[in-house]
Amino acid sequence: MIKLGINIDHVATLRQQRKETEPDVCEAARIALASGADSITVHLREDRRHIQDADVEALCEFVPRLNLEMSIAPEIVSIADRLRPKHICLVPEKREELTTEGGLDVVGMIDRITEVVQTLQSEDTEVSLFIDPDKAQLDAAKASGAQAIELHTGDYANYDQEPVKQMAELQRLHEAALYAHSLGLVVNAGHGLKYHNTDPIVALPHMNELNIGHSIICRSVFVGLSEAVKEMAVIVKAS
Ligand code: PXP
Repeated sequence: MIKLGINIDHVATLRQQRKETEPDVCEAARIALASGADSITVHLREDRRHIQDADVEALCEFVPRLNLEMSIAPEIVSIADRLRPKHICLVPEKREELTTEGGLDVVGMIDRITEVVQTLQSEDTEVSLFIDPDKAQLDAAKASGAQAIELHTGDYANYDQEPVKQMAELQRLHEAALYAHSLGLVVNAGHGLKYHNTDPIVALPHMNELNIGHSIICRSVFVGLSEAVKEMAVIVKAS
């Protein structure tokens, strides 16, 4: 059965807008875990626009499978090295972006990425690379020594109004999932997934885990976080 990782960054976005103490991200994590989430994902961005260092520390204390999304900036790498979450997903990061744009260029940064993988990956910590569904990037991910990849589904999701392009992107994801598995990589996916476009991603081969955030937090405004997570868990665990 495919696992569901819930990204709770936007609970912190709401809190940071007023620099308040609520909504509490730890409470959000507890509700998500009690409602069908298998893991909790947070992105500690260099600009700290939502998740703060103290959030990651607090979540590490009680979340059994915490997935820390992060850039390869030395400051962030040293925080991850100290906290040692169960999972780490290396992502590209630009200050001016609204959310992560595209996958990591593992081919272009192979030396630095290999160094970060070697620093952070251990028996207790799995490192995943967030990449586009591209054979050269998958080969480079394998060469870096990372155990897992997360396929970037953002382009697939962005083509919601263009079915032909969306089918082509789904085919790319399908081929990438097969190829990644043949290389021995754990295959995850995420970004931009919503209640109406996740079924085809669930049907991709060898899928281990989907990481979904924004759409679930949006839905929770109307139905509550527990119900929003449960509804997505039904879709993801239909496999
Ligand atoms: N996976 C990765 C690597 C991401 O950077 C993000 C966004 O933080 C997500 C999944 C979740 O994306 P969304 O919030 O669009 O569901």
